[in-house]
Amino acid sequence: MAELTNPERRMLRALQKRSDDWTLEEILQECDWTDQAIAVSAGHGLTNKGLAKTMESSNKEVILGEEGIKASENGLLEARLWNFIQSNPNSTMKDLSSHFERHEAGPGIGLLKGLGVTIQGGNFSCEDNDSVADSILERTKFIQSPSIDSPLLDHFKGRKNLIEIVEMVSRTWKITKNGSGIPVEELEEVVQIAEITPELLQSDEWKNATFRPYDVSLEAAMPRSGRSHPMQALIERIRSIFLEMGFSELVDDYVQTAGWNMDSLFIPQDHPAREMQDTFYLDEPKKIEIEAKLLADWKAIHEHGGDTESTGWGGEFSEEIAQKGLLRTHTTVNTIQYLAENPKEPCRVFAIDRVFRKESIDRTHLPEFHQIEGIIMEPGANLGMLVTTLKTFYQKMGYPEVRVRPAYFPYTEPSLEVEVKWRGKWLELGGAGIFRPEVTEPLGIKDPVCAWGMGLERLAMLVLGLDDIRQLYISDLEWLRNQPIL
Ligand code: PHE
Repeated sequence: MAELTNPERRMLRALQKRSDDWTLEEILQECDWTDQAIAVSAGHGLTNKGLAKTMESSNKEVILGEEGIKASENGLLEARLWNFIQSNPNSTMKDLSSHFERHEAGPGIGLLKGLGVTIQGGNFSCEDNDSVADSILERTKFIQSPSIDSPLLDHFKGRKNLIEIVEMVSRTWKITKNGSGIPVEELEEVVQIAEITPELLQSDEWKNATFRPYDVSLEAAMPRSGRSHPMQALIERIRSIFLEMGFSELVDDYVQTAGWNMDSLFIPQDHPAREMQDTFYLDEPKKIEIEAKLLADWKAIHEHGGDTESTGWGGEFSEEIAQKGLLRTHTTVNTIQYLAENPKEPCRVFAIDRVFRKESIDRTHLPEFHQIEGIIMEPGANLGMLVTTLKTFYQKMGYPEVRVRPAYFPYTEPSLEVEVKWRGKWLELGGAGIFRPEVTEPLGIKDPVCAWGMGLERLAMLVLGLDDIRQLYISDLEWLRNQPIL
């Protein structure tokens, strides 16, 4: 049999004193408790262990409602009106209306009429004053101490918020044979240690001590201490997953040139995403110089494919457009620059950073958001490796079902869309692919590069169960406090 708790021991000792039923009051008194909940839960525990029996009966009781409580303090409406009429014998309907609130006078008269009071020409009269007074007295007595058996119950049930009928459960307990059989020495309450202190550990006392077990099923107050914002906590978690997978983190500026953000990635200069309405271009600095050699290489690639086998986009490449300042629209601008600086060394790099697009704000869009970017460059890097890496990442985040679908980006071939299954639906979380030669060759990169960029806020919506992305940024304290620890 499971260990008895201290309250169970105390209650069983009480029940052993006599074998008939014990009421709650008797238990509370015998056990010297004031909290009913302790008695009820000890009784429940003893019953589960077969040491006692709980008998439950429920009966209906009447209690005062909100208006009933007021009436018990200030008098029933009909009583107050009646008293007024009695002490002002010539009072009229008009007096009553000015003396009482508008919402009282009307219904109050209705009640008095029901008791036999009549109004003639604005004056009150009554055939039998005593009978009215008696009825009012009866009602007053009821409201002072309501009883479920009273003949007035139906009358009060029909009046708003005066009374409520509630179901009360009352319990009694009785010892069982097994319960009587437990020797009283075994029902000694044990001193349990709830807190392990250095003193306890230094002494020898811990060896014979009984420790209070944790009951993880109990309701507990939420500790309200400082904590990371859920978004920050999520970033930390993603960061640790990539670090664990052997990646290094890259942090870089969000002020960039169109050249790096787009031209280096073989995004054509007339691509719609480059328009003012999609990208935040800067007034200051309006132009950011780019090395002439790079501009010449990109120009060649864009116009005719340069030294690659590509035919390029054709048209005329503008160096001026390439040198425009902007807020990066994707973090791919940073991984590509990392590769440009380290074209020969195999690497695994990730970034979790802020990007900007001219989106109108709604449930799923913000003009400022974050991407989770990454690359793997090494001899033999291939599509299988890319897909496995992304699947592993989402698996570690707690989303085991991941699929990829063909997609298009100007800078990757093949290109993929990554989708995760959530609540039975496939949700698109990002893009990926292998950088095209038009991107890698001008930078002197020889090994294949797997690359991806995924939305952080999208993932946050899944993790936190949000249906509105804006919730993440509105500083709603109540919501913040109740977020899970990630
Ligand atoms: N940069 C793309 C985006 O912003 C994602 C992507 C990154 C796609 C790397 C392919 C390779 O959606």
